Amino acid sequence: MCFQNELDKRVEKAEKIISGYLPAKAVHQHTVIDAMEYSVLAGGKRLRPVIMQAVWEMFGSKEDIAPFMAAMEMIHTYSLVHDDLPEMDNDELRRGKPTTHVQYGQAMAVLAGDGLLNYAYETMLKAAQKAEDKSAFIRAMSLLAEKAGIYGMVGGQCLDVEAEEKGIELSEEQIRFVYENKTAALLQASLMCGAYLAKDEDAAAVLEKAGYDLGIAFQLQDDILDIESTTQELGKPVGSDERNGKKTYVSFLGIDTAKKEQERLSGEAVELIGSIAVSGAERENAKRFLMELIRSLTGRKK
Ligand code: IPE
Ligand code: IPE
Ligand code: MG
Ligand code: MG
Ligand code: MG
Repeated sequence: MCFQNELDKRVEKAEKIISGYLPAKAVHQHTVIDAMEYSVLAGGKRLRPVIMQAVWEMFGSKEDIAPFMAAMEMIHTYSLVHDDLPEMDNDELRRGKPTTHVQYGQAMAVLAGDGLLNYAYETMLKAAQKAEDKSAFIRAMSLLAEKAGIYGMVGGQCLDVEAEEKGIELSEEQIRFVYENKTAALLQASLMCGAYLAKDEDAAAVLEKAGYDLGIAFQLQDDILDIESTTQELGKPVGSDERNGKKTYVSFLGIDTAKKEQERLSGEAVELIGSIAVSGAERENAKRFLMELIRSLTGRKK
Protein backbone atom coordinates (compact mmCIF):
# COMPACT_ATOMS: atom_id res chain seq x y z
CA MET A 1 0.00 0.00 0.00
CA CYS A 2 1.39 3.43 -0.85
CA PHE A 3 2.17 5.74 2.04
CA GLN A 4 -0.64 8.23 1.41
CA ASN A 5 -3.28 5.46 1.29
CA GLU A 6 -1.98 3.92 4.47
CA LEU A 7 -1.94 7.31 6.19
CA ASP A 8 -5.53 8.03 5.09
CA LYS A 9 -6.65 4.67 6.45
CA ARG A 10 -4.88 5.19 9.73
CA VAL A 11 -6.30 8.70 10.14
CA GLU A 12 -9.78 7.37 9.44
CA LYS A 13 -9.29 4.64 12.04
CA ALA A 14 -8.03 7.18 14.59
CA GLU A 15 -11.03 9.43 13.93
CA LYS A 16 -13.43 6.55 14.58
CA ILE A 17 -11.70 5.76 17.84
CA ILE A 18 -11.67 9.42 18.93
CA SER A 19 -15.38 9.90 18.11
CA GLY A 20 -16.22 6.72 19.99
CA TYR A 21 -14.76 8.11 23.20
CA LEU A 22 -16.49 11.51 23.11
CA PRO A 23 -18.80 12.23 26.04
CA ALA A 24 -22.48 11.35 25.93
CA LYS A 25 -25.00 14.17 25.55
CA ALA A 26 -26.55 15.62 28.67
CA VAL A 27 -29.38 18.03 29.34
CA HIS A 28 -28.19 20.94 31.44
CA GLN A 29 -24.53 21.03 30.43
CA HIS A 30 -25.15 20.26 26.77
CA THR A 31 -23.44 23.48 25.61
CA VAL A 32 -20.05 22.59 27.03
CA ILE A 33 -20.35 19.06 25.62
CA ASP A 34 -21.29 20.48 22.21
CA ALA A 35 -18.32 22.85 22.33
CA MET A 36 -15.98 19.97 23.22
CA GLU A 37 -17.31 17.89 20.36
CA TYR A 38 -17.15 20.82 17.97
CA SER A 39 -13.47 21.39 18.78
CA VAL A 40 -12.45 17.73 18.51
CA LEU A 41 -14.45 16.92 15.40
CA ALA A 42 -13.40 20.10 13.53
CA GLY A 43 -10.65 18.05 11.89
CA GLY A 44 -6.90 18.24 12.25
CA LYS A 45 -4.18 15.89 11.13
CA ARG A 46 -4.65 13.44 14.04
CA LEU A 47 -0.90 13.09 14.00
CA ARG A 48 -0.49 12.22 17.68
CA PRO A 49 -3.01 9.33 17.84
CA VAL A 50 -1.74 7.97 14.52
CA ILE A 51 1.81 7.98 15.90
CA MET A 52 0.59 6.30 19.10
CA GLN A 53 -1.06 3.48 17.24
CA ALA A 54 1.93 2.86 14.95
CA VAL A 55 4.32 2.64 17.92
CA TRP A 56 1.93 0.36 19.77
CA GLU A 57 1.94 -1.95 16.73
CA MET A 58 5.75 -1.88 16.73
CA PHE A 59 5.91 -3.32 20.23
CA GLY A 60 2.70 -5.20 20.79
CA SER A 61 0.93 -5.15 24.15
CA LYS A 62 -2.18 -6.71 25.59
CA GLU A 63 -3.28 -3.30 26.80
CA ASP A 64 -5.39 -1.30 24.41
CA ILE A 65 -3.92 1.90 22.99
CA ALA A 66 -7.34 3.28 21.93
CA PRO A 67 -8.19 5.15 25.17
CA PHE A 68 -4.75 6.77 25.07
CA MET A 69 -5.26 7.84 21.45
CA ALA A 70 -8.56 9.50 22.34
CA ALA A 71 -7.16 11.07 25.51
CA MET A 72 -4.16 12.45 23.65
CA GLU A 73 -6.32 14.08 20.99
CA MET A 74 -8.55 15.55 23.72
CA ILE A 75 -5.54 17.04 25.50
CA HIS A 76 -4.03 18.34 22.26
CA THR A 77 -7.38 19.86 21.24
CA TYR A 78 -7.84 21.54 24.61
CA SER A 79 -4.37 23.06 24.24
CA LEU A 80 -5.43 24.52 20.88
CA VAL A 81 -8.78 25.84 22.21
CA HIS A 82 -7.01 27.69 24.99
CA ASP A 83 -4.09 28.75 22.75
CA ASP A 84 -6.55 30.50 20.43
CA LEU A 85 -8.29 32.51 23.17
CA PRO A 86 -8.04 36.31 22.98
CA GLU A 87 -5.88 36.25 26.13
CA MET A 88 -3.39 34.01 24.35
CA ASP A 89 -2.90 34.06 20.55
CA ASN A 90 -6.28 35.61 19.77
CA ASP A 91 -6.97 33.56 16.63
CA GLU A 92 -10.37 33.15 15.03
CA LEU A 93 -9.85 30.18 12.74
CA ARG A 94 -8.72 26.64 13.61
CA ARG A 95 -8.87 23.48 11.54
CA GLY A 96 -10.70 25.48 8.87
CA LYS A 97 -13.51 26.48 11.23
CA PRO A 98 -14.25 29.39 13.59
CA THR A 99 -12.32 28.85 16.82
CA THR A 100 -14.26 27.54 19.80
CA HIS A 101 -14.47 30.94 21.50
CA VAL A 102 -15.78 32.54 18.30
CA GLN A 103 -18.42 29.84 17.99
CA TYR A 104 -19.39 29.46 21.66
CA GLY A 105 -18.03 32.53 23.48
CA GLN A 106 -14.94 32.83 25.63
CA ALA A 107 -16.32 31.44 28.88
CA MET A 108 -17.60 28.33 27.12
CA ALA A 109 -14.27 27.88 25.30
CA VAL A 110 -12.45 27.94 28.63
CA LEU A 111 -14.89 25.34 29.97
CA ALA A 112 -14.66 23.21 26.83
CA GLY A 113 -10.88 23.13 27.30
CA ASP A 114 -11.29 22.24 30.98
CA GLY A 115 -13.83 19.58 30.05
CA LEU A 116 -11.56 18.03 27.42
CA LEU A 117 -8.56 17.93 29.72
CA ASN A 118 -10.55 16.33 32.50
CA TYR A 119 -12.37 13.94 30.18
CA ALA A 120 -9.01 12.73 28.87
CA TYR A 121 -8.18 11.48 32.36
CA GLU A 122 -11.69 10.12 32.89
CA THR A 123 -11.24 8.14 29.67
CA MET A 124 -7.86 6.70 30.63
CA LEU A 125 -8.84 5.96 34.23
CA LYS A 126 -12.00 4.17 33.19
CA ALA A 127 -9.91 1.99 30.88
CA ALA A 128 -7.27 1.50 33.60
CA GLN A 129 -9.82 -0.19 35.84
CA LYS A 130 -10.18 -2.93 33.25
CA ALA A 131 -6.49 -3.19 32.36
CA GLU A 132 -4.76 -6.48 32.98
CA ASP A 133 -1.33 -4.99 33.42
CA LYS A 134 -2.26 -2.06 35.64
CA SER A 135 1.32 -1.02 36.38
CA ALA A 136 2.15 -0.64 32.67
CA PHE A 137 -1.10 1.22 32.15
CA ILE A 138 -0.40 3.64 35.01
CA ARG A 139 3.18 4.17 33.83
CA ALA A 140 1.86 5.23 30.39
CA MET A 141 -0.86 7.38 31.91
CA SER A 142 1.49 9.24 34.22
CA LEU A 143 3.86 9.87 31.31
CA LEU A 144 1.01 11.47 29.41
CA ALA A 145 0.00 13.55 32.42
CA GLU A 146 3.54 14.79 32.97
CA LYS A 147 4.15 15.69 29.33
CA ALA A 148 0.89 17.65 29.26
CA GLY A 149 1.53 19.63 32.43
CA ILE A 150 3.85 22.22 33.93
CA TYR A 151 6.91 20.08 33.14
CA GLY A 152 5.64 19.71 29.61
CA MET A 153 3.16 21.51 27.35
CA VAL A 154 1.80 23.96 29.93
CA GLY A 155 5.36 24.86 30.96
CA GLY A 156 6.29 25.65 27.35
CA GLN A 157 3.17 27.74 26.81
CA CYS A 158 4.02 29.65 30.01
CA LEU A 159 7.34 30.99 28.78
CA ASP A 160 5.95 31.46 25.27
CA VAL A 161 3.14 33.81 26.35
CA GLU A 162 5.20 35.51 29.01
CA ALA A 163 7.94 36.43 26.56
CA GLU A 164 5.32 37.79 24.19
CA GLU A 165 3.42 39.78 26.85
CA LYS A 166 6.53 41.28 28.38
CA GLY A 167 8.41 41.67 25.10
CA ILE A 168 11.32 39.60 26.45
CA GLU A 169 13.95 38.50 23.90
CA LEU A 170 14.42 34.80 24.54
CA SER A 171 17.86 33.23 24.29
CA GLU A 172 18.33 30.24 21.99
CA GLU A 173 18.27 27.97 25.03
CA GLN A 174 14.98 29.50 26.18
CA ILE A 175 13.44 29.18 22.71
CA ARG A 176 14.47 25.53 22.69
CA PHE A 177 12.82 25.13 26.08
CA VAL A 178 9.57 26.59 24.70
CA TYR A 179 9.59 24.26 21.67
CA GLU A 180 10.65 21.24 23.67
CA ASN A 181 7.71 21.73 25.99
CA LYS A 182 4.86 23.40 24.16
CA THR A 183 5.23 21.10 21.13
CA ALA A 184 7.70 18.25 21.59
CA ALA A 185 6.32 17.05 24.94
CA LEU A 186 3.01 15.74 23.57
CA LEU A 187 4.77 14.22 20.56
CA GLN A 188 7.22 12.50 22.91
CA ALA A 189 4.32 11.11 24.93
CA SER A 190 2.68 9.91 21.70
CA LEU A 191 5.85 8.09 20.71
CA MET A 192 6.59 6.63 24.14
CA CYS A 193 3.16 5.46 25.26
CA GLY A 194 3.14 2.22 23.24
CA ALA A 195 6.65 1.33 24.40
CA TYR A 196 5.61 1.83 28.04
CA LEU A 197 2.55 -0.36 27.58
CA ALA A 198 4.92 -3.06 26.30
CA LYS A 199 7.33 -2.30 29.18
CA ASP A 200 10.21 -1.54 26.85
CA GLU A 201 11.98 1.24 28.75
CA ASP A 202 15.06 1.20 26.49
CA ALA A 203 13.00 1.80 23.39
CA ALA A 204 11.00 4.50 25.23
CA ALA A 205 14.24 6.36 25.96
CA VAL A 206 15.20 6.31 22.27
CA LEU A 207 11.69 7.42 21.33
CA GLU A 208 11.88 10.30 23.79
CA LYS A 209 14.98 11.56 21.97
CA ALA A 210 13.28 11.07 18.62
CA GLY A 211 10.25 12.97 19.93
CA TYR A 212 12.44 15.86 20.96
CA ASP A 213 13.90 16.13 17.45
CA LEU A 214 10.50 15.64 15.85
CA GLY A 215 8.91 18.24 18.12
CA ILE A 216 11.47 20.96 17.46
CA ALA A 217 11.26 20.21 13.72
CA PHE A 218 7.45 20.22 13.85
CA GLN A 219 7.28 23.61 15.58
CA LEU A 220 9.91 25.05 13.22
CA GLN A 221 7.69 24.01 10.32
CA ASP A 222 4.62 25.44 12.12
CA ASP A 223 6.41 28.78 12.40
CA ILE A 224 7.62 28.61 8.77
CA LEU A 225 4.05 27.95 7.60
CA ASP A 226 2.84 30.89 9.68
CA ILE A 227 5.06 33.02 7.41
CA GLU A 228 4.90 31.22 4.06
CA SER A 229 1.54 29.47 3.81
CA THR A 230 -2.00 30.74 3.25
CA THR A 231 -4.89 30.80 5.71
CA GLN A 232 -6.93 28.69 3.30
CA GLU A 233 -4.33 25.94 3.09
CA LEU A 234 -3.48 25.96 6.80
CA GLY A 235 -7.01 26.25 8.13
CA LYS A 236 -5.70 28.72 10.72
CA PRO A 237 -4.66 32.34 10.30
CA VAL A 238 -1.19 32.95 8.85
CA GLY A 239 0.82 35.84 10.26
CA SER A 240 -0.43 35.09 13.79
CA ASP A 241 3.08 35.19 15.24
CA GLU A 242 3.95 38.51 13.62
CA ARG A 243 0.62 40.07 14.64
CA ASN A 244 1.32 39.04 18.22
CA GLY A 245 4.87 40.35 18.02
CA LYS A 246 6.11 36.83 18.74
CA LYS A 247 9.78 36.11 18.19
CA THR A 248 9.97 32.52 17.00
CA TYR A 249 12.94 30.20 16.50
CA VAL A 250 12.54 30.96 12.79
CA SER A 251 12.95 34.71 13.33
CA PHE A 252 15.95 33.87 15.50
CA LEU A 253 17.66 31.55 12.98
CA GLY A 254 16.47 33.13 9.73
CA ILE A 255 14.19 31.20 7.42
CA ASP A 256 16.88 29.38 5.37
CA THR A 257 18.77 28.13 8.40
CA ALA A 258 15.46 27.21 10.03
CA LYS A 259 14.51 25.06 7.04
CA LYS A 260 17.89 23.29 7.12
CA GLU A 261 17.61 22.72 10.86
CA GLN A 262 14.10 21.41 10.42
CA GLU A 263 15.30 18.87 7.84
CA ARG A 264 18.29 17.87 9.92
CA LEU A 265 16.16 17.24 13.01
CA SER A 266 13.51 15.28 11.10
CA GLY A 267 16.28 13.14 9.62
CA GLU A 268 17.67 12.51 13.09
CA ALA A 269 14.26 11.48 14.42
CA VAL A 270 13.84 9.02 11.54
CA GLU A 271 17.31 7.58 12.16
CA LEU A 272 16.64 7.09 15.86
CA ILE A 273 13.43 5.21 15.13
CA GLY A 274 15.30 3.19 12.50
CA SER A 275 17.77 2.11 15.17
CA ILE A 276 15.07 0.34 17.20
CA ALA A 277 15.02 -3.37 16.44
CA VAL A 278 11.65 -5.05 15.95
CA SER A 279 10.89 -8.50 14.61
CA GLY A 280 8.07 -9.81 12.46
CA ALA A 281 6.48 -8.43 9.32
CA GLU A 282 3.64 -6.55 11.03
CA ARG A 283 5.92 -4.79 13.47
CA GLU A 284 8.41 -3.98 10.72
CA ASN A 285 5.59 -2.53 8.69
CA ALA A 286 4.45 -0.27 11.53
CA LYS A 287 8.02 0.92 12.00
CA ARG A 288 8.43 1.66 8.29
CA PHE A 289 5.16 3.59 8.30
CA LEU A 290 6.21 5.66 11.31
CA MET A 291 9.54 6.52 9.67
CA GLU A 292 7.77 7.53 6.46
CA LEU A 293 5.26 9.59 8.41
CA ILE A 294 8.00 11.58 10.11
CA ARG A 295 9.87 11.97 6.84
CA SER A 296 6.67 13.27 5.23
CA LEU A 297 6.36 16.04 7.81
CA THR A 298 9.46 17.75 6.42
CA GLY A 299 8.11 20.37 4.10
CA ARG A 300 4.50 19.61 5.15
CA LYS A 301 2.03 22.16 3.85
CA LYS A 302 -0.36 22.11 6.80
C1 IPE B 1 -0.73 22.61 16.12
O1 IPE B 1 -0.65 21.20 16.06
C2 IPE B 1 -0.09 23.10 17.36
C3 IPE B 1 1.35 22.83 17.43
C4 IPE B 1 1.85 22.16 18.41
C5 IPE B 1 2.24 23.35 16.43
P1 IPE B 1 -1.08 20.41 14.75
O2 IPE B 1 -0.42 21.05 13.55
O3 IPE B 1 -0.83 18.97 14.95
O4 IPE B 1 -2.65 20.72 14.69
P2 IPE B 1 -3.85 19.83 14.14
O5 IPE B 1 -4.14 18.81 15.18
O6 IPE B 1 -3.43 19.23 12.83
O7 IPE B 1 -4.98 20.81 14.00
C1 IPE C 1 1.06 26.28 20.22
O1 IPE C 1 1.98 26.83 19.35
C2 IPE C 1 1.38 24.98 20.73
C3 IPE C 1 0.33 24.53 21.67
C4 IPE C 1 0.63 23.89 22.76
C5 IPE C 1 -1.10 24.78 21.43
P1 IPE C 1 1.33 27.84 18.30
O2 IPE C 1 0.60 28.92 19.00
O3 IPE C 1 2.35 28.23 17.31
O4 IPE C 1 0.27 26.85 17.60
P2 IPE C 1 -0.71 27.31 16.44
O5 IPE C 1 0.14 27.87 15.32
O6 IPE C 1 -1.64 28.31 17.02
O7 IPE C 1 -1.38 26.02 16.02
MG1 MG D 1 0.61 29.90 20.85
MG1 MG E 1 -1.36 29.74 18.39
MG1 MG F 1 1.96 28.54 15.21
